[in-house]
Amino acid sequence: MVTRINPSILAADFANFESELSRIRSADLVHVDIMDNHFVPNLTFGLGMVERLQQVSPLPLDIHLMIDNPERWAPGYAEAGAYSVTFHAEATTEPVALARRLRQIGARAGIALKPGTDVTPYLDLLDEFDQVLVMTVEPGFGGQSFMHETMPKLAQLRAKVHSTGLDVWLQVDGGITAQTIEIAAAAGADTFVAGSSVFGAENPAAQIDLLRQGAASHRHGAGNLES
Ligand code: DX5
Ligand code: ZN
Repeated sequence: MVTRINPSILAADFANFESELSRIRSADLVHVDIMDNHFVPNLTFGLGMVERLQQVSPLPLDIHLMIDNPERWAPGYAEAGAYSVTFHAEATTEPVALARRLRQIGARAGIALKPGTDVTPYLDLLDEFDQVLVMTVEPGFGGQSFMHETMPKLAQLRAKVHSTGLDVWLQVDGGITAQTIEIAAAAGADTFVAGSSVFGAENPAAQIDLLRQGAASHRHGAGNLES
């Protein structure tokens, strides 16, 4: 299983994204949090910013849409060239149709679940998605504490991915540190968003290494034949 570390630029210096991106070259993707002050009580940036980031980022973009009406906006992010576009299950009644549209445009399609959202209805739809994002905090703000009670969802997802053999990335987002990443990895996550723990570190590259090691050494199935 591959470990992916996706730093969230929500915790970066908004006035210096280009230099901030150069500090995280050893990461896998850049996580970009789009908030609309409706779906979540906070506002960040939109499509115009992402189009520009797409031009200057050395890493592919992992877009996390915390917005209402993703049908209206998500395809534009895929058309802008984002590698991955994840929308919230709670914000749409047609997740499969939207995921198909994103894939058709050429992006990986992701679905995100808030901490209180049950994963069960999505388990039989997994082949429609390339990524499931299990929120490990309430979406809206960086710097919150990891919610352990979300871990059973990952275990359910990992078991389903294992039994079906699908290539679906299992992402966690919120409160990921060198300690909590071990818990999330053991529960079955393979893709880790980290905002404050990476950009708040004196040496982001060293922190990315530390997170990667923590995840790899505690990954689900380590020690048996599963890889
Ligand atoms: C929260 C965002 C996260 C946030 C994580 O709503 O989705 O991506 O940047 O920040 P940390 O890692 O500081 O919890
Ligand atoms: Zn996020």
